[in-house]
Amino acid sequence: MSLVKAKDVAYVRFAAPDLGVMRAFLLDFGLVEVPREEGKLFMRGQGPAPFVHATDQGEAGFRAVGFRLESLTDLERLAKAEGAEIASLDAPGGGSVVRLADPDGHVVEAVAGQTPAGPLLVDAAIPWNDAHAHARLRTVKRITGGPAQVIRLGHCVLNVSNFRESERWYKDRFGFITSDEIAATPEFSIAAFMRCDRGATPTDHHTLFLLQAPRGPGFNHAAFEVRDLDDVMRGHSHLAAAGRDPAWGVGRHVLGSQVFDYWRDPFGHTLEHWTDGDLLTADDGSGKATLPDLIGVQWGQTMPSNFG
Ligand SMILES: [Fe+2]
Repeated sequence: MSLVKAKDVAYVRFAAPDLGVMRAFLLDFGLVEVPREEGKLFMRGQGPAPFVHATDQGEAGFRAVGFRLESLTDLERLAKAEGAEIASLDAPGGGSVVRLADPDGHVVEAVAGQTPAGPLLVDAAIPWNDAHAHARLRTVKRITGGPAQVIRLGHCVLNVSNFRESERWYKDRFGFITSDEIAATPEFSIAAFMRCDRGATPTDHHTLFLLQAPRGPGFNHAAFEVRDLDDVMRGHSHLAAAGRDPAWGVGRHVLGSQVFDYWRDPFGHTLEHWTDGDLLTADDGSGKATLPDLIGVQWGQTMPSNFG
């Protein structure tokens, strides 16, 4: 039994020496700025999260991942068990935060009590015709140019030095459930895609992915859900036209099934657009998979040798 259960990933936090450079990239990526004081950059998606990406002024790097808890009661339980303080979250939406360090020193911020933002106006979904079901009749499809419409943050991937140790740490505290574990050999697993335990409520195939990587611990990538496949492609065209740095995509993952598209921010952090991922409940079990499953695609660009 875990101390609490994470409901979802809340945000990722970085630092960058030039907030204007970061801001310009994130606008091209499809995030929306939340005005705030000097020296801090907060960006949101179109959904109700008050922010999903934060950048402090400073030396470039990953600073923290936030997970949302169900209640302040849960946050108090976590704080007590960890001997940690509850602080005010100085960010859009307010709320309270408990800051922990995982076995590799990654800062993990558990948050509760944030005030949701009013969702922004998202273009209505345009139905798709396929050969079996024609959902769009007597209506033409016209996709206007522009950045993708990021709705929400979906998952964060961290490289760790000891997969089993980190897996235990996150599961004991936040109740994550393995969706797919990656076995390098039948006896040795190096990674797992983990989902939140939301009971019978379907949730993303993975909210957290931990990978024991040869290059050592650190941030791997953060992934943002966009409206649909057209939006992935619209975002791709926009980022390419803006001269941004492509990392991998477009393709469809095997594990999690998402259509994906990865880009690097100006400071080298990898961010992903995705759509059409698998949604599982707590009862949907756990699988074992292989390295080819992890890096393979169902269609689209194969993984570049310099990715991750
Ligand atoms: Fe991802």
